Amino acid sequence: MQFPDGFLWGSATSAHQVEGGNTNNDWWDFEQDPASLARASSGDGIDHFHRYAGDFALLASLGHNTHRLSIEWSRVEPVPGEFSRAAVEHYRRVLTALRDTGMTAFVTLHHFTLPRWFAARGGWLAPGAVDVFARYCAHVTASLGELMPFVCTINEPQMVALHGYLEGYHPPGVTNPMKWRRAGEVLLDAHFAAVRAVRGGSDCRVGLAVQLPLLAPADGAPETAGFRAIRYEIVDRHLDNPTGPDAGDWLGVQYYRKQWVDPASPALFVPPPPGTPLTQMGWAVHPDGLRQMLHRAARTGLPLYVTENGIATEDDTERVAYLTSHLAALAQARAEGVDVRGYLHWSAFDNFEWSEGYRPKFGLIAVGDDFSRIPKPSAHAFARIARTGRVERLPAY
Ligand code: BGC
Repeated sequence: MQFPDGFLWGSATSAHQVEGGNTNNDWWDFEQDPASLARASSGDGIDHFHRYAGDFALLASLGHNTHRLSIEWSRVEPVPGEFSRAAVEHYRRVLTALRDTGMTAFVTLHHFTLPRWFAARGGWLAPGAVDVFARYCAHVTASLGELMPFVCTINEPQMVALHGYLEGYHPPGVTNPMKWRRAGEVLLDAHFAAVRAVRGGSDCRVGLAVQLPLLAPADGAPETAGFRAIRYEIVDRHLDNPTGPDAGDWLGVQYYRKQWVDPASPALFVPPPPGTPLTQMGWAVHPDGLRQMLHRAARTGLPLYVTENGIATEDDTERVAYLTSHLAALAQARAEGVDVRGYLHWSAFDNFEWSEGYRPKFGLIAVGDDFSRIPKPSAHAFARIARTGRVERLPAY
């Protein structure tokens, strides 16, 4: 399988998962709350806040021509309406260092974390939340836009709503179906408002990243109306709107796994059938789901980028198999006519995996107790693919 010249190859991170010391956001509070579902403090992260230059140089040396990171809103706007010039200058240094390595930047404006003050005023469900978010987006892109060729407004709005308002697995830890639906609507509005804000002050190519699991009815039962309604809630609502003028310029597809849905279960999802091989996260690996979800996303008519795809495992040979099998699925989607222009692996480094803490290992690069960076064999396998544009050896799946 040969990928074209100009295809974007890289990896993704998010601020709270790698920077360290993000004590002014809602996640920090959730981590410190013994009653929450979070198992550990993010603490120092992997100290990317101080080590970004070395990290970018390492990724570039491993063949990456692209890198996705996020801006931490709580640093840039530590109190309502007051923007930190020092934080903006920090991100100017970060994005300049990234540009100087020759890598293309994908910059996410909201990746799961909210400033503590925004959460305290009621988060996404509070009046005016969308305008407040858009004000922050306008400030960042007006200040740093020339360093941000690609901007992602919101990472996985539907997962923010699901995890935060139905499962209670992320802040604000709510389990309320009405609030889940409302949060989903507000987050989609927030995306549209952010697109307008970014376009108002920059030339950035702006888009959205959605997680698209392959959803199957529980127990292999035929699809029911309930299943289709749930599927619509979780995924399609966010895909069927991007055709409006504020949709954005591209769509990010984030694919990890196959999931089984039972509309009768309050949690919506049921465990994979017995005997299904699972990752450290308990997720079912199904490479062809990526091909199918790329076809689904292509119905929007937007150019696509895979902005996340990866596996949590201690066994790096599994990561190489996951990587190559999913790239084969991506290549097949391209051969079938889907316009996919890049692949960003999740993640560059082993990092803070939200409520699961540091146990799951998603990285191409391990991080030692002294914060040393140790590329795994999968990082070298990825480097060969990125340099040649060719995936040669396919694992059996
Ligand atoms: C998120 C990442 C997360 C990954 C693995 C995605 O939903 O964007 O932040 O680490 O999945 O769980």
